[in-house]
Amino acid sequence: MSSDLAAREPLPLEQFLARQEQIGLLRFLTCGSVDDGKSTLIGRLLYDTKLIFDDQLAALQRDSARHGTAGEHIDFALLVDGLEAEREQGITIDVAYRFFATDRRRFIVADTPGHEQYTRNMATGASNADLAVVLVDARHGVLSQTRRHSFIAALLGIRHVVLAVNKIDLVDFSEARFAEIRADYARAVESLGFSSMVAIPLSARFGDNVISASPQTPWYTGPSLLGHLETVDVDAAAMVRPFRMPVQWVNRPNLDFRGYAGTIAAGTLRVGDRVAVAASGRSSTIARIVTMDGDLDRAGAGSAVTLTLADQIDISRGDVLTAPGAPVAVADKFDAHVVWLTEQRLFPGRSYLFKLATRTVSGTVTHIRHRIDVNTFAEVPAATLGMNDVARIGVSLIAPVAMERFADSRELGGFIIIDRLTNATVGVGMVEAITPGSTNIVWHDMAVDKDARAALKGQRPAALWFTGLSGAGKSTIANLVDRKLHALGRHSYILDGDNVRHGLNRDLGFSEADRVENIRRAAEAARLMVDAGLIVMVSFISPYRSDREAARERFDAGEFIEVFIDTPIDECRRRDPKGLYARADAGQIRNFTGVDAPYEHPASPELHLLTTEADADTLADRVIEELRRRGLIA
Ligand code: ADX
Repeated sequence: MSSDLAAREPLPLEQFLARQEQIGLLRFLTCGSVDDGKSTLIGRLLYDTKLIFDDQLAALQRDSARHGTAGEHIDFALLVDGLEAEREQGITIDVAYRFFATDRRRFIVADTPGHEQYTRNMATGASNADLAVVLVDARHGVLSQTRRHSFIAALLGIRHVVLAVNKIDLVDFSEARFAEIRADYARAVESLGFSSMVAIPLSARFGDNVISASPQTPWYTGPSLLGHLETVDVDAAAMVRPFRMPVQWVNRPNLDFRGYAGTIAAGTLRVGDRVAVAASGRSSTIARIVTMDGDLDRAGAGSAVTLTLADQIDISRGDVLTAPGAPVAVADKFDAHVVWLTEQRLFPGRSYLFKLATRTVSGTVTHIRHRIDVNTFAEVPAATLGMNDVARIGVSLIAPVAMERFADSRELGGFIIIDRLTNATVGVGMVEAITPGSTNIVWHDMAVDKDARAALKGQRPAALWFTGLSGAGKSTIANLVDRKLHALGRHSYILDGDNVRHGLNRDLGFSEADRVENIRRAAEAARLMVDAGLIVMVSFISPYRSDREAARERFDAGEFIEVFIDTPIDECRRRDPKGLYARADAGQIRNFTGVDAPYEHPASPELHLLTTEADADTLADRVIEELRRRGLIA
């Protein structure tokens, strides 16, 4: 990027960059369908603002002759559609970021694909954009994609939209056609609440109204696209909002310095101002605002700073500093919109990591209120979500976090959802409603507590989580352990998958979604039993690693003991105590674990028992030994 700038500018690079720092930055994205001319438009903007190398230009002319669809003219799309494979397909399949600048503004443009399947790419490109340029082909007008892209832009917090009515040359620069499309669009997006919408007739290919007014559209008196992008006011709001800064890290190089580093999300701050910590409500006064270029007297939204305070108060990474008069909510339950980004489906009840600002905590989607059909904006019921789905969900986190509604703050109201095992980002979300007093439902500490109950029983409570294939021997071994504990005068209980499915979980089947919920309920029931001071054996196939990990998280350290009952599937099939493998193999039972549904074996269980190497009684003794070794029983 900087080499492009250096090449074009007569000023020395440093001076040029310093000047660029002074002028504003506009992030925008373009969206449209495959043939609407997005890439051509971006290429045209880059070309006309003269940020293309001469040698790039030569290559472009060569390529245009080879691949181009623009005949004699330069095919600007080739500038943007980077990959050969994409060129051959004629679609852009990933988000490409471009940088360009004029004397008045710097721009970062995200070029997002228009292909039907790529809602997720658009969600990525839009996540920090200020404005969306929605392209339509003047011949086709507003299509369902136009509505969809506008909806996602609005969902992701974009408040400003430009309707680029492209290929106006192909409708003979018709004013009437332009007016018709503008009116159609205004109606289509009426409910989306954009704060500004400007329609511009243009031809990306020939440059009409891209940089300057076109003589071909004398009837059009509005700004050119670039003129509008240079002047549209998008960020006035951020500075006047109350101060917020999520703490990225605590900088403690020596005992004399303790600084809180982060990027100011909103508002401004002066030395001497009071600030409060969202979670604790404690406050102090700003002593210094330290930056790479020395101390400042004041700093505003977007600045990366390190703050030192007059008092020693407890602040850690992930805390949010706020103006004391304008606190943010601290909650563990909220409603959100989510865009699901991955092939692996979202299941309510499954545990994910939620990253809000600088804080990452685990939690679950408690329910899907509805999926939103992005073509019609209709709300439709859904049990799970797939790639590109947009939905309204309820979220429950395991710890309270400082947050705001996304409408009030993108920084404190936007979040991503991360898969616990792969660490991949699987969703992006927007906080829509924070459940009031959601932290008021606290766990009541009863007069007789877990320790007291356990002491009376002469044991320390624990959950022994038996996992393994159907027929592996989970219930057999759990039963033997139960008998041995009973004989030792210890207090234990068994939660068995088959049995619990007769009552508490009788509404659940064997789909992935139902198994997630099956395990969640089993874990919660086991947790109550542990609280009652019992040693509880949970004997469920529990085939998904992430669900077992979520179960583990519901317990205190040392209370959850994962026991992997490891029996090869051929052996289970040979034993087939209930005749279920035979039926599954014959196709009479669907989603059977190990046959046509997965079993994810534990990565590091506390106990790994191979049933082909010892008999059940010996293995049960090993469990008892382990309980002794851990000091759970005497
Ligand atoms: S889990 O996968 O959700 O943990 P759970 O342990 O509750 O399963 O129930 C498993 C028991 O249900 C098996 O031992 C078997 O008796 C019975 N069962 C019936 N259908 C299936 C199936 N499709 N897959 C696995 N077990 C099944």
